[in-house]
Amino acid sequence: MQKMIYLRLIPTLLLFLSIQFLDPIVAQNYRPSKGIEARVNALLAKMTLDEKIGQLTLYTTDWGSTGPTIREGYKNDIRSGACGNLFNCHTIGFVHDLQKVAVEETRMKIPLLFGYDVIHGYKTIFPIPLGEAASWDLEAIEKSARVAAIEATAAGLNWTFAPMVDIGRDPRWGRVMEGAGEDTWLGCRIAEARVHGFQGKKLGDTDAMLACVKHFAGYGAPIGGREYNTVDMSERYFREYYLPTYEAAVKAGAATVMTSFNDYDGVPASGNKYLIDGILRKEWDFQGFVVTDYTSTNEMVNHGVVVDEKEAGELSLNAGVDMDMQGGIYQRFLKQSLKEGKVSTKQINEAVRRVLRLKFELGLFEDPYKFCNADREKKAMLAPEHRAAARDLARKSIVLLKNEQQVLPLKKGQKIALIGPLADNKSELIGNWNGAGNANDCVSLREGFSPAQGSLVVYAKGCDLEVTDRSGFAAALKAAQNADVVVIAVGEGAMMSGEAGARAELGLPGIQEELVLELCKTGKPVVVILMNGRPLAIPKIAENATAILETWWLGTETGNAITDVLYGVHNPSGKLPMTFPRSVGQVPIFYNYKNTGRPYDSNSKWTSKYIDMPNSPQWPFGFGLSYTSFGYSEPKVALKSGGNLLTITVNVTNTGKLPGEEVAQLYVRDLVGSVTRPVKELKGFQKIMLQPGETRELKFILTEKDLSFYRRDMTFGTEPGEYEIMIGGDSETVKKVKVRL
Ligand code: GLC
Repeated sequence: MQKMIYLRLIPTLLLFLSIQFLDPIVAQNYRPSKGIEARVNALLAKMTLDEKIGQLTLYTTDWGSTGPTIREGYKNDIRSGACGNLFNCHTIGFVHDLQKVAVEETRMKIPLLFGYDVIHGYKTIFPIPLGEAASWDLEAIEKSARVAAIEATAAGLNWTFAPMVDIGRDPRWGRVMEGAGEDTWLGCRIAEARVHGFQGKKLGDTDAMLACVKHFAGYGAPIGGREYNTVDMSERYFREYYLPTYEAAVKAGAATVMTSFNDYDGVPASGNKYLIDGILRKEWDFQGFVVTDYTSTNEMVNHGVVVDEKEAGELSLNAGVDMDMQGGIYQRFLKQSLKEGKVSTKQINEAVRRVLRLKFELGLFEDPYKFCNADREKKAMLAPEHRAAARDLARKSIVLLKNEQQVLPLKKGQKIALIGPLADNKSELIGNWNGAGNANDCVSLREGFSPAQGSLVVYAKGCDLEVTDRSGFAAALKAAQNADVVVIAVGEGAMMSGEAGARAELGLPGIQEELVLELCKTGKPVVVILMNGRPLAIPKIAENATAILETWWLGTETGNAITDVLYGVHNPSGKLPMTFPRSVGQVPIFYNYKNTGRPYDSNSKWTSKYIDMPNSPQWPFGFGLSYTSFGYSEPKVALKSGGNLLTITVNVTNTGKLPGEEVAQLYVRDLVGSVTRPVKELKGFQKIMLQPGETRELKFILTEKDLSFYRRDMTFGTEPGEYEIMIGGDSETVKKVKVRL
C-alpha cells in the first residue's frame, strides 16, 4: 500500500529554490595553472609551422598496435619535429631513449607526451571496468585508477586513454566491458572517481597522469550493438542518457577528451563541430585538448562526409580537434590547407597552446625524465599493497546471482570437483585492454583453492572455451560423481569483448552450457562461476545451476578473490551495473525504460510485449544477492530546506545471520511530465556494512538538479507534479512512496 504524502509547494517557491540554490557542486574543470600561459605563448612565438603541426600529431610506436595501421620511423619523426606525442610506448628505458631524442636532438626541445590504454590497471590488473562498476564502491574504484596511475607513471607514462565513459545498454557491443554499464547516474559517479584516480592530487605530481575521457560521444549506442556502427538518436535522448557521463568527467577535471569513431546526427564525432566546439567547449567550458581516436579523422572519408583525407583534416580542425591520433593527416595536409585558407593560423596556434599547456602542467619542461626513475619503476610494479587493493576490489565486484540449498559459502572438509575451461586458466583473467598486465602474475581459480580452506579439490577441465570436443566430459562427470559440490568456471575468451568484440549471440561459446547441464543432471550441487566481459543470456543455466557467481574478468588476484567469496571470507556484495537478458532477442533491455501507451500486461495480448517471452530480464539492473539478507522500512519523505528539494529516510536491517554489505538504491519516477519519462531512474545509493540484526537509518537528498530533465521545449529543469520515490536492494525490489511537488 503506497502512502500518499502531499507536500504542496507553491510553484513560485520551487522557482525561488531553483534560482537561489542551483546545484551546489562547483565545477572543477581543468584550468591551466598560474604562469603557464606566458610560458606557452613565449614558446609558441618561436615555433615554425612544421613544429606546431608536430605538436598536433600522435603516433604509435611499433611496440604494440591498438588499431588497423602501424608506422615505422617514428624516431625520425620525433627528431624532425614532425611528431610531438607517442602512444604504446612504456617502461623507462624505452621512454627515456625517445624523450632524449625530443629534448636533445630537436630545435625546440619540446618533451613528448607518452599515452597508453591504462584502463583497469597497468601491471597489477584490476577487474575490467564493468566488473569494477558492479562493486558500486566509488572509493575502491578511485583507488584502482590511482594504483594504475602510480604504476603507469613509474613506467614512463604521463597520459592514459581512460576513463571510457560510454553508456552501454546493448551487451552485443563488446566495449560494454570497458565502461560502467547502462545507468547514467552511476556512470557519472564512476567517471568522476576514475578521473580523480588517474589525475591524483595535482597534475605535475610524479604519480599523476592526464586522464582522457572517451569516446566522445555516444559510441556505446551503435545500431545493433555492432562495433563502429551508426549512432542515431534524438537530441533529448542523447542529452538525457548518453552525454552526462562525459560532462561529469570533464567537470571532475579531466585534462583531455578523445573523439569517437561513430557519427552523431549524421556527422562523424571527429569532425562534429556541434559536439566539440558547441557542447564540449562552449557549454561545458572544457579547456584541455581533444584528440581523435585511432585514424578516426581518416575514416571520415569512408563515412562519406569528405572527399579525401585533406578535407577530413580541415573538418576535424574546424570542429575543434587538436590532435590527430595515428592518422598523419595534420602532418601531411595542414600546411596546404592553411595556404588555401581552409584553416587559420589562429586555429592551429590555439590547438598547439592546449597541448603545450598540459605539457607544462605535467612539469615536463622542468624535468622531461621525471617519469623515468628506475627505483620507482622497480618498487611500484605489483607492490603488495597494489595486489591487496586489486584483491579487495575483485571480491567486491563479484555478484551472487543465485544460491539455492545455501550451497554457498562452501564448508571446510567438502570434496570439490573443480571443472571448466577457465578453472585452471590464467591467460584470460586479465581481460581485454589489459595494459602491461602479465597473465603469469595472475592467481588462477585453481590456485585460489588452498589447504587452508580444508577442501579436497579434484580438477577436470571438461571442455575448451570454443572447441566442440566432448572427450573431456567423462572425466568431469566422474569427478562430479565423487564430489560433494561441483564448481565449474565457464565464460568467454577475453578477446570476445572489448574493441571489435561485438557478438550477435549472448550465450556461452562452444559446448560449455552443455557441460554445465550434464553436471546438473548428476544431482550434485553445481556452482557456476561466470567469467565474461558482458551480460550473457543463459536461461538454462539460470534455471538448473544451484548457485551462480558473476565474476567478470577479475585480473591479477582472480583466484584469491573468488575463493574468498566461495568460502565466505568475503560476503558477496556486488550489484549488476547492466541488465542480464533472458535472450538476445530482448536486447536492448534496460531498467529505465518508458511506460509506453500499452504497458506490459502478461494477461493482455494488446500490450507492449513479446508473444514468446516475458519482458522481464533474467536478472535486473542493481541485482545481487548476499549470504545474509536485508529488510527495508517504508521510506519517509520530507521537504528539505537549503536548496535540496527532498530528504528521504529509510531503515535498512540485516535480517540474516552473517555480517554483510548492502547497496541501498534510490530510484525516482516522475509520474507525469511534459514528455514521456522513464518508469524509474537511479538517483542515489549508499553501500553499508551491517552486522546481523543491525538496523541503520539512511538519509538521501534529492536536489533540484536530480529531478531536472529536458522538458518539451528542451530546457533543462523540473516540473511540478507527482513523483514516486523508491528504495531497495535492486531496481525491481523496492519500497515506494508518492510525493507531490
Ligand atoms: C583504439 C580505441 C581507443 C584507444 C585508442 C588507442 O582504437 O578505440 O579506445 O584508446 O585506439 O589505443
